[in-house]
Order: sequence, then C-alpha cells, then structure tokens
Amino acid sequence: MSTTHHTTGESMSAEEAARLSPEEAMIAGAEADGVYIVHRRERFPIAGTRAEKRAERTIAGVFLLGFLAAVGFIVVFCGAVPYEWRLPGTGSQNYRYFTPLVGGLLGLSLACIGIGVVLWAKWLLPEEEAVQDRHDGASGMTEQVLMAGTLVSGFNDLGVARRSMLKTTLGLAGGALGVVPLVALVGAMIKKPGRGEGQSLFHTPYKAGVPLVYYDGRRVGPDDLQPGGIATVFPGVEGGVKDSDSPTLLIRLKPGQTVKARKGQADFGWGDYVAYSKICTHAGCPASLFEQKTGRLLCPCHQSQFDVLQDAKPVFGPATRSLPKLPLTVEMVDGKQYFTAKGDFPEAIGPSFWERP
Ligand code: FES
Repeated sequence: MSTTHHTTGESMSAEEAARLSPEEAMIAGAEADGVYIVHRRERFPIAGTRAEKRAERTIAGVFLLGFLAAVGFIVVFCGAVPYEWRLPGTGSQNYRYFTPLVGGLLGLSLACIGIGVVLWAKWLLPEEEAVQDRHDGASGMTEQVLMAGTLVSGFNDLGVARRSMLKTTLGLAGGALGVVPLVALVGAMIKKPGRGEGQSLFHTPYKAGVPLVYYDGRRVGPDDLQPGGIATVFPGVEGGVKDSDSPTLLIRLKPGQTVKARKGQADFGWGDYVAYSKICTHAGCPASLFEQKTGRLLCPCHQSQFDVLQDAKPVFGPATRSLPKLPLTVEMVDGKQYFTAKGDFPEAIGPSFWERP
C-alpha cells in the first residue's frame, strides 16, 4: 500500500488522474474534496496470515448461518414442515411453533447478514481516520474520475476478489434471503389454504347439534346472559376453542329490540338471542364492542360498525359485508336448556377474498 502522491486532485488533469492506482486516486480525490486521511493502516499488512484466515472463516460461518436460516424459513413456510405441530407433551396445542419459527428464522437470517457485514468492516477493512473541509458547488471532471477511483479503492479494500469464501457465503445468504419475498406467493400456491382434510376456508367446526361453549368448555344456556349482554362462545368440539374461525358473539337483545333478519335467515335466532361470527369482515379483527342501547357492534381496528338490529349489516367504516349469522337452537340436558348450532354459518366468515362466490 502506498499513501504517496505527487499532485493533488485540484491541480491534476483527468489523464493524470486516470493513471493513478485506485488507492492513490482515492487519497487524491479525498484531498481534492478537502478530506485528509490522517491515518490509514491495513488490518493484516501481510495477506493470508492465520489470523486473517481465522477472521475470514468466522465471518463466512456467520453468512452460512444466515443462508441456512433463510433456507429454513423457505422450507417451513412452504409447508415441508407440517403446519399443525404437536410436539410431545403439548397436548392439543397445535400451530404453536409455526409463526415463531418462521419469524425467528427470518430474523436470524437478516441478523447474520448484518453481523457478517459489520464484522467484515471491523476485522478486514483498513483502519482509517479522516478529517474533512466543507465545500460548495458541483464537482469537475477530475473530481469525478477521482471519485470513481475512490469507489474502486473501497471495493478493493473489501478484498472480494481474494476472499472467495466470504464472497460465496455472503452470496448464498443474500441469495436465499432474496428468495424469501417470493415464498409468500409461491408457498401459498404449494399449500392449499384451509385447516385440513374435509375442511376448507368455507366451513367452520359448527354443524347441526354442535353445542355452544365458553372458552373453558362450559355450555352456554339462555339463562346465562342479562338482556343487552354478550358472550364470546365457540363450537364445543375438540380443538373448537382454538380454531381461528370459531369465535362467535352471542347477543341477548334488550326488551323491545328486534332484528330485521336477512332473506332466508328469519329462524336463525332463538328467542331474544342472536349469534354472529366475531371475525370482522373487513380485515379479521374481533368485532366485540357492543353498545346495548343502539345495538351497534364496533370493530376496534378500523372502526367498522355493524348494526345488529339490521342483522349485523355494516353501517359505518371500511367493512362492506354483514357478519355471518349462526343458526341457533336449544336442547334440554338434565332439565336445563343449552344452545346448540342448527348448522354451520351459511357463508364464509372473515374478510372477503377473491375466491369468494
Ligand atoms: S378489521 Fe374491523 S374494521 Fe378493519
């Protein structure tokens, strides 16, 4: 490495500048810009020492880990690892590890690439201290040529040409990470949406005779709620309370309130009770802020309002579709009445999507 030069960038012609080595051009260019390099030293003045190789191997290992994490993300996301996990000892807790796993792997991949780049700069690039004067106005041709030299010199400092291990591992990690945005599209085509055999986006676990239960599995009966009261209930089947399609809002109307039912759904309520999917038809938040007096149901996410007295029709905000209504009936068990479903929701619950009929 040489830090000597004979002419500053300001007094040099473009031809003279073009004859400088990239490092000389970088220093001359810096000085022409009022940047004076007061200290510059190679971290490893003798190339190829064991210490340099060790640093290189460590950084390559970090990039490799980033590559493996990105590949792991792709594999998990595409469903090569089953969506429904049940690790030993976790009982009926399905799906528990999918989201943390894809999030953790993506985070690890990004972190590894970031850490690898920082280590590369700290361990392998030359140490440099510079002071700079401010200047105004545009750069002339000479400055532009010197700037190009500065960029080439900076690239040479990276040592990409001779550090093939780092080049390969960074390329692997960056390449795998670059594929990640495509995975959401491609992965969704590989894995059919839905919850498994016999079920689809268009059905929930409700069907005729399925009891309505609280989160803890207790059955819900008509005596449970005060007029104007609401309760979140679920289908009383195995895994029903954990199913993302299941949350249902059971509402007891106040005396004098009636629901103007949708066509064909006049008998979906029972007594002064009605039940709707709790999943907002805008973007899927739980719509559960109920104002008893007006019969309005508010979704806290984007303020959609559904008028329960008009059968949960959207009357304000971005939602455009009424909340699906669950057909209700009751059955007697040990002399007490309990709610059961008369069938599934007649339409898909949740946000609209392109495939919806
Ligand atoms: S999710 Fe309910 S208003 Fe947007």
